[in-house]
Amino acid sequence: MSGIHGKVIAITGASSGIGEATAVYLAEKGARLVLGARREGRLNAVVDSITAKGGTATGLVVDVTRREDLQRLTRTALSQYGRLDVLVSNAGTMAVSPFDELRQDDWDAMVATHITGLLNGIGAALPVFRRQGSGQFVNVASTAAYVVKSPQGVYAATKAAVKVLTEGLRQESGPDLRVTLVSPGFTNTEGVGKGAGPEVAAALTEQRDAIAMPPCAVASAIGYAIEQPEGVDVSEIVVRPTAQA
Ligand SMILES: NC(=O)c1ccc[n+]([C@@H]2O[C@H](COP(=O)([O-])OP(=O)(O)OC[C@H]3O[C@@H](n4cnc5c(N)ncnc54)[C@H](OP(=O)(O)O)[C@@H]3O)[C@@H](O)[C@H]2O)c1
Repeated sequence: MSGIHGKVIAITGASSGIGEATAVYLAEKGARLVLGARREGRLNAVVDSITAKGGTATGLVVDVTRREDLQRLTRTALSQYGRLDVLVSNAGTMAVSPFDELRQDDWDAMVATHITGLLNGIGAALPVFRRQGSGQFVNVASTAAYVVKSPQGVYAATKAAVKVLTEGLRQESGPDLRVTLVSPGFTNTEGVGKGAGPEVAAALTEQRDAIAMPPCAVASAIGYAIEQPEGVDVSEIVVRPTAQA
């Protein structure tokens, strides 16, 4: 199966930002979607706006740090649509801070969401992909996986882990599966600086408002990786605003 039309695609972190834009983009191209996030109201609004335009989407309250929630996400794809073609692991938190602030709950959340959350998705989808003899992982990292900038040490470390896990998975995936890393730069979403201290949040949102690209730029990069013919693996995409150093 190549292209996007008819594919069954699960997306984590689909209640806002890049995940929402990706859901809307893929629905317009005829994908059948299973969308997960924690904020039920926001998620339902995304599902409703897609279905109102004739698209196909189901929403599920999912916390990616919980193994069972990812199992439920993949089970829902199978029970509703009979298969799962792509898992987009996009859920993330950008509550960055200087180490001296000792915001250890935020450090834990980034590790749990980006690393454990990604592994929970792999654990849930890999057996399905193996049984089908096809499937694609699309993992959302960040340009922070390539260059660390203060005060993003913990965030960058977890996104570097996403990059490393993705490459390890790609090497083991064999000829039937596809594994793609998508690393966005500054993107105009509500998540930039969310949960960070007031000074850091103000600096990040100021930079976002000055240079960020729209989330649909990342959505179309993800779509490009998905729409390639079987046997063609777009392994890595870095997409950033031209103004980003
Ligand atoms: N914006 C940027 O500049 C930028 C740059 C590079 C990479 N990224 C990455 O892009 C991804 C999306 O971020 P965004 O910019 O679109 O920000 P966003 O609008 O805040 O989106 C983050 C999404 O992740 C979900 N989420 C967070 N924790 C979760 C959890 N434990 N379980 C399930 N869902 C969870 C949120 O939904 P709920 O709160 O409803 O669960 C939300 O839907 C993240 O991985 C982020 O690190 C963003």
